[in-house]
Amino acid sequence: MKDLATALSAANAAVFTELGLDPKHADVRRSDRPDLGEFQCNGALAVAKAAAKKPQEVAQNVAAAWVATDLASAPSIAGPGFLNFTITPEALASRAQFVADDEMAGASPVEHKRRVVVDYGGPNVAKGMHVGHLRASIIGESVKRIYRFRGDEVWGDAHFGDWGFQMGLVITALEDELGGFEDRAKLDARLSTLTLEQLEAIYPAYAAKVRDGDTDVRDRARKATAALQGGSALHREIWKAMHDVSMAAQKRDFASLGVNFDLWLGESDADPLIADMVKDLEAKGLLEEDQGARIVRVANPGETKKKKLDDGSVVEVESPDPLLVVSSEGSAMYGTTDLATIVQRVRDQKPDMVLYVVDQRQGDHFEQVYRAAAKAGYIARDKLEHVGFGTMNGADGKPFKTRAGGVLKLQDLIGQAEEKARERLKENEVDANFSKEEFEDIAHKVAIAAIKFADLSNFRGTSYVFDLDRFMSFEGKTGPYLLYQAVRIKSILRKAEEQGLLPSPPLRGRGQGEGGRSDAQGGGGVIAIAHEAERALALALDAFDGALRAAYDKKAPHFLAEHAYTLAQAFSGFFANCPMLQSEGAVRASRLALAGATLKQLTLTLDLLGIDVPERM
Ligand code: ARG
Repeated sequence: MKDLATALSAANAAVFTELGLDPKHADVRRSDRPDLGEFQCNGALAVAKAAAKKPQEVAQNVAAAWVATDLASAPSIAGPGFLNFTITPEALASRAQFVADDEMAGASPVEHKRRVVVDYGGPNVAKGMHVGHLRASIIGESVKRIYRFRGDEVWGDAHFGDWGFQMGLVITALEDELGGFEDRAKLDARLSTLTLEQLEAIYPAYAAKVRDGDTDVRDRARKATAALQGGSALHREIWKAMHDVSMAAQKRDFASLGVNFDLWLGESDADPLIADMVKDLEAKGLLEEDQGARIVRVANPGETKKKKLDDGSVVEVESPDPLLVVSSEGSAMYGTTDLATIVQRVRDQKPDMVLYVVDQRQGDHFEQVYRAAAKAGYIARDKLEHVGFGTMNGADGKPFKTRAGGVLKLQDLIGQAEEKARERLKENEVDANFSKEEFEDIAHKVAIAAIKFADLSNFRGTSYVFDLDRFMSFEGKTGPYLLYQAVRIKSILRKAEEQGLLPSPPLRGRGQGEGGRSDAQGGGGVIAIAHEAERALALALDAFDGALRAAYDKKAPHFLAEHAYTLAQAFSGFFANCPMLQSEGAVRASRLALAGATLKQLTLTLDLLGIDVPERM
């Protein structure tokens, strides 16, 4: 069963066609003036010119031709020719019943299933995970879940940064620490005790040296990078120890954030493909020598930008910049491994689409890589998409830093959020009812919900300010508020079950696992819509599919975050106005079924955002 806006649009399109009006303008949407009608079509204004009539007149013709159906009465007309529709209580009830019975809670699967790789997370070996990777992980995880839920075949890939200059840099630092790598026993002992904390300290110290102009360190790090990539056994062994230490820590961090990858691959996994790829680019005449390096030009004729030179003069240069494939030291660069990873994915996953959930400041990089891939014929340009996002900022409006000015580690952020969650829960006297273990589990889930929901409730392109106090509030548009609403419904339904008031367990939904798409049209369901607040709740339940499709098409989970909030608020109004356990007979059965449908859809929506709901709280 389609959502109400889709069903209304189809009925309205038939009327438009009948009147000789272009049905593509017949779309009906939820109205932004609910006082005039719940659903609205503005198409009369769009087709009026072609029909050589006034919009008002077109709207009147449409309204007159509309036969009131089970779905809606004939539209009324507002303003210059807006058509307003009101859904019948019966249609609302059967739609709500469908949501209650449907295993997808009223959502529609994609029409054409695709093979999709989602590249997200992207932490770097030796650098540890910090809040910069937080958004990539949170948004990417949600996008992956949304695509998979609608029926696509999806692979989430972490794409570890484990093959670049930073590896040579850390190897060089270790060389300095040990006074060279000649003493084998000393090296082995050092590698076996290496920790992530040490790597995380070494890396910024040496990165700072290079930034401050230490050309000796820079050149040795470049050589070490080239040696590693060239296959030096010693360098690979050191690399492996560093890689494994980082990887283990990152797997732990991702797990506590509720982020799971299907592929734990990295830049280094594309290394075996690079040599052949370079030969291939050469054979295709795409590689050019440029000051000792080898590049692929990706700008089309006439695509230029202004560039300021060191002497202050301004010149026109090609834009985008060429992709650097082989550095003058012979090393693979960030773009090289990205290009080779495309070759690898085309070979292994045969994707119809690759989504790169990465900071939008990397937009130019991806444009270069995608153009190079298309030029080389590896994949069509339109199958590659950079799903960019803004930064998480501090109160100063700049990308978030700790008070000491450093980057905040993910573990520390989660720890801070858990601490705040414990405080808030204790204020609400939640701790009295639970064992220590259950309390800790609740605090963790509240912490993760607060962090993730705060991130996902903004359009991903928008930057936002990190404010744990606000994220953790139990009121307003926050993760904890939504968990609280979901848990409240669970508790009502638990009571109803204890009192033997539930015919079939609504928590599981009927027919799950058996295709479960029963046709509720027959009116055999228990849900009836009478009260205004029941109406509002049924309309909110109906809107899930539209929100999901928008989130899917635009790779933008905030549509679902918004839906979760609207639904929770509608439930809140329903809860305040429509007693459940205190009512009787058919009314009680209907209301409990509405509550069950709400819980199912809310839990599912939160799950698509990567948020887990505790049993109690
Ligand atoms: N490791 C990169 C960074 O920290 C992000 C990787 C994004 N994915 C990609 N295919 N380049 O900036």
